[in-house]
Amino acid sequence: MIDYFVLYIIIVLLTISVVYYYLDFKEISGLKVKEKFEEKGHRIYLGDALEVLKTEIPSESVDLIFVDPPYNIGKKFADFHDKWPSDEEYAKWAYEWIDECIRVLSPKGTLYVMTSTQAMPYFDLYIRKKLTILSRIIWRYDSSGMQAKKYYGSMYEPILHSVKNVGEYTFNADAIKVEAKTGSQRKLIDYRKAVPTQYNTEKIPGNVWYFPRVRYRMDEYENHPSQKPEALLERIIKASSNKGYVVLDPFAGSFTTCAVAKRLQRMSIGIESQEEYLKIGLRRVFGWHKYNDEKLIPPEKTNVRRNWNGKRIVDKTGELFHAFSEA
Ligand SMILES: C[S@@+](CC[C@H](N)C(=O)[O-])C[C@H]1O[C@@H](n2cnc3c(N)ncnc32)[C@H](O)[C@@H]1O
Repeated sequence: MIDYFVLYIIIVLLTISVVYYYLDFKEISGLKVKEKFEEKGHRIYLGDALEVLKTEIPSESVDLIFVDPPYNIGKKFADFHDKWPSDEEYAKWAYEWIDECIRVLSPKGTLYVMTSTQAMPYFDLYIRKKLTILSRIIWRYDSSGMQAKKYYGSMYEPILHSVKNVGEYTFNADAIKVEAKTGSQRKLIDYRKAVPTQYNTEKIPGNVWYFPRVRYRMDEYENHPSQKPEALLERIIKASSNKGYVVLDPFAGSFTTCAVAKRLQRMSIGIESQEEYLKIGLRRVFGWHKYNDEKLIPPEKTNVRRNWNGKRIVDKTGELFHAFSEA
């Protein structure tokens, strides 16, 4: 009799722990599409990028994809810690979403992918087997406050620019031209031409791009540790899409891509796993002021900042903090 009772208790306990383990596992691994929001051609998902891609995005339905994933460098993104046990495991994870991005990309579509300088070789070798890589772009920027003393500090991030069909893809060269500084600025004449003419005043940018990183004092600043500058996304979106095209960002962060896509009259899809950043997206892309009874307000900026020693820096003009963080 007692034996049956003990057995019954053991079975009940086992069942409870299996159910708990399963629910907890699903939560931890973020395998769910937790929420979906849609407004006037713009869609935002709270959930795991891979799961959303697999279950929500039809094949060949997206014209431009910009991917700025976690870099495997140990950054903290709200509840997510950006560190894999090894480079290989990070690459294996990335190959899964790269394959999904390729599946959802339209036949004439373009894929831009960023990652750390050390992880980019894995991505490059993998992507070049499946797409045509047109450019290997360097996003160069000013340094952070902390300077490397015993090696050469990192001052750039790589971006791969690839297309599905090298015979037919969007590239709006005229939309992204920049000032040609050399000959034209000095009003020189190019005598190499049949009829000598002045140098062009504009040119298509090369593959080394300078854009300052987003700083606290900038209007576009959001509370996100890896926010990309709007100017960077503006160049990418203008070059590789037209008005009305669908732009996807599977690791949306502060939703820079979607906000810029909206301003440029494209449609957008953004996926983000952290609710803290989802709220930025709802405000920045949809213009919402409230989410679940919580007010959505832009970051409140104070003049009191702390330097790397935790010492208060009182910054009345915005210039002092800038000076500390400049190279
Ligand atoms: C490098 S940041 C993107 C920054 C973004 N480009 C911006 O301008 O703000 C990567 C983002 O991916 C999010 N993330 C991490 N794992 C994810 C996953 N499995 N699915 C969706 N988002 C994820 C992080 O929370 C983080 O916000």
